[in-house]
Amino acid sequence: MLSDRGRFFRALRAREFPQLTARGLAYLDYTGAALPARNQLRAQRRLVDAAVLGNPHADHAPSRASTEFIAAARAATLRFLDADPDEYAVCFTANASHAAKLVAEAFPFRRGGELLLSADNHNSINGLREYARRGAARLRVLPLDAELRLDRPHQYLTPGRAERLLAFPAQSNFSGVRHPLSLIAAARRRGYAVLLDAAAYVPTRHLSLRRVRPDFVTLSYYKLFGFPTGVGALVARWDALRRLERPWFAGGTVDWVSVRHRRHRLRDGVDAFEDGTANYYGIAALAAGFAFLRRIGMRRLGAHVADLTRRLLAGLESSRHPGGAPTVRLYGPNDLRERGGTVTFNLLDRRGVVIPYASVETAVRAAGVAVRGGCFCNPGSAEVAFEFPAATSLRCLRETTPFTPARFARCLGKGTAVGAIRASVGAATSLEDVDRAVGVLGRVARRGAAASP
Ligand SMILES: Cc1ncc(COP(=O)(O)O)c(C=O)c1O
Repeated sequence: MLSDRGRFFRALRAREFPQLTARGLAYLDYTGAALPARNQLRAQRRLVDAAVLGNPHADHAPSRASTEFIAAARAATLRFLDADPDEYAVCFTANASHAAKLVAEAFPFRRGGELLLSADNHNSINGLREYARRGAARLRVLPLDAELRLDRPHQYLTPGRAERLLAFPAQSNFSGVRHPLSLIAAARRRGYAVLLDAAAYVPTRHLSLRRVRPDFVTLSYYKLFGFPTGVGALVARWDALRRLERPWFAGGTVDWVSVRHRRHRLRDGVDAFEDGTANYYGIAALAAGFAFLRRIGMRRLGAHVADLTRRLLAGLESSRHPGGAPTVRLYGPNDLRERGGTVTFNLLDRRGVVIPYASVETAVRAAGVAVRGGCFCNPGSAEVAFEFPAATSLRCLRETTPFTPARFARCLGKGTAVGAIRASVGAATSLEDVDRAVGVLGRVARRGAAASP
């Protein structure tokens, strides 16, 4: 018997995501991207048919229409994050990576200052270290424990006077671990500015910027509701924005530029951070995305994701070879405590040897199941999960040219996994999708990766 929640999501799937059934696809890459609901796409078609939008930098009616959509989308983003508009601003960007780069290139990294990164970070955040290095700021890394959770991170917060920045993900795109948001207040009390990468967290968990007050939040909207692509945001405290030092200017960011006098004046606030012309048709589509999430409700969505994750973990953990040996090695927590709907694992052959993820990916794709393979742009979690031997991995990184994961794996030697499979769930995922993925993965492991399922 289906619960009320089960019935709700079954109807939602039939109404809003019929293309999945039409294509016979089990989509389990929600951490890669959410899928857009039919309703959102219809709303966009209506908008494109009816509205005349122009470059928001002009002042005619189409331009004003764009400006209104942009203002409404900023307000909707702040409402979604429960943020006080007097405290936070929204800068639209191309994606979460671009949002992180706005902070990276403008944060006043100096000798005596520090960048404190979680070992679990997407490369979009790891890239901050190149700006810290350029500014001669110290770099430190918060280590992970065997469950890929931060290992006593509060101990690494040191007092100091120079500008320091802590950057970590609210939820890991590798393991699904939700890191403690209490770290934000603790770090700010010790004088750190905090960048919270919320890209993998906010799609299925409510974040309140009245309760936790990071200086910067990065996100991509397609991870929330699939459409539009190419729009992200840097949500920043007004006071934190003022401390940034923009290294350049572009169209839309300046009050004036003089070529003769080689001077310019940046505009105030978010205007100084939005380079060039915004993706205004894309930004106009955000309202329908937020409406879709509101109709579901974040609480209900979170509960659905927990149901699916529970089923996925149980299915993977109970999958066996004929002799009883497990077919799966899981990375990260094997329960639902402080984690989201992202599960990463490798398949094992009957001797317990990891089957290379790329051949699993091929076999699973042929069976109509969409999962992600690789290291998911999160090398810090990968290094811990796969237990790369430190000295050998450094040598192999240097010596493997041209670099491919397979060549790198050969250099590391037998038995070390390089890459894994990631399954992640969201609004359109059903329990049947999860069961189907688990079944296909079990057959791939039992038959050996080369055979088709
Ligand atoms: C946690 C996390 N941070 C940052 C990013 C980068 O997002 P984008 O590629 O949209 O810039 C991702 C994308 O997968 C992510 O999962």
